Amino acid sequence: MNQRLVIVLVLALFTVGVCCALRGHAQEAAAPAEPTVLSLPAPDLSHPTTLEQALQERRSVRQYAAAPITLQQASNLLWAAQGITEPTKGFRTAPSAIARYPLRLYLVAAQVSNLPAGAYRYLPQGHQLELVTEGDPRASIGSQPQMTTAPALLVYAYDTTVFARFPADRGLQWACLEAGHSAQNVLLEEVALGLVGVPMGAFDPVQVKTTLKLTEVEMPLYVLSAGQRG
Ligand SMILES: Cc1cc2nc3c(=O)[nH]c(=O)nc-3n(C[C@H](O)[C@H](O)[C@H](O)COP(=O)(O)O)c2cc1C
Repeated sequence: MNQRLVIVLVLALFTVGVCCALRGHAQEAAAPAEPTVLSLPAPDLSHPTTLEQALQERRSVRQYAAAPITLQQASNLLWAAQGITEPTKGFRTAPSAIARYPLRLYLVAAQVSNLPAGAYRYLPQGHQLELVTEGDPRASIGSQPQMTTAPALLVYAYDTTVFARFPADRGLQWACLEAGHSAQNVLLEEVALGLVGVPMGAFDPVQVKTTLKLTEVEMPLYVLSAGQRG
């Protein structure tokens, strides 16, 4: 074969190879990362504490032992907040205006056994957690001491698109009422689990939005802590 023809063929093959490799790399880079989703243990519904005992014992506690809460306890708290209790209609542990469920719930896990430190979004369907960010983000949630020392925080946000067809103040009113219902469930469940915590309305919403990578339409509403009494 003509020597020049061989050189041209080799160069052409080389060019095609490089192009394919670059294209594959570009596709790999463009592909959205698969979310990390973890399944939670089913909630343990067997605690013997009566509702009246939980109401009697609930107190805001701001000091915690330097010990983790368990993944089972975290599962129970998230279930108490927004767990699905009627799968056919999707009804949950807390009531919701026109059953639209506008609350988005995040777990900030600093010391939860068998769960890497990070912020997670709770997925009621499937009772799962979706990783939002790795590491311990408590310090950027707020400056109150109990925010940075609690083994776990639950953060509520309101998805403002859910009640978009209503006046904004009506939607916000409903979302706040729902957060109150849900938070009380969590605080009573903490008593049932032998844990303590405090509800907190004072935090920097901009910092919370950034830290938890909330979307533009998610408005932070409330933060709850959970831990063992210190
Ligand atoms: C809407 C709301 C916001 C609150 N915000 C905070 C807060 O930012 N920091 C805090 O330490 N406690 C906060 N608390 C807890 C109250 O201080 C506490 O409920 C009150 O002192 C009564 O005590 P008790 O919860 O033990 O009954 C808040 C409570 C509510 C209902």
